Amino acid sequence: MEVDREFLISVARQALEMAIAPLSGYLVGAALLTAEGKIYSGCNIENTSLSMSICAERVALLKALSEGEREFKAIAIVSSGLSHCSPCGACRQMLYEFAPHIEVIMTDPKGRVISTKIEELLPFPFER
Ligand code: THU
Repeated sequence: MEVDREFLISVARQALEMAIAPLSGYLVGAALLTAEGKIYSGCNIENTSLSMSICAERVALLKALSEGEREFKAIAIVSSGLSHCSPCGACRQMLYEFAPHIEVIMTDPKGRVISTKIEELLPFPFER
């Protein structure tokens, strides 16, 4: 099954509209595609207790995992920032653990798309 990148990005853009980011003002949306073609979306959710804030990618991943999904193909990430939103270290680690070959698709406000693999973003990962 081919990944429809543009469609996945459009779902991430819709998810961004739900972002709760009063502290940073930086809105993020993510759309996670399962091996069977289902899409789970997520947005960043901030909390006044800053360390409890969570990124859009992990919201999407946790939603999918909690619904029993275990096989993932791709994740699209969009933000309100001026350039591509590359996943933070914590998200890379979690994506790697649950989807070690996932395609990571990022786009900037001009619609320029970068597509890479989680292995490229997290070389020499922690593994037990
Ligand atoms: N954020 C994400 O949602 N995903 C990332 O990959 C990087 C950062 C969020 C966390 C916080 O709510 C805001 O962006 C600013 O750091």
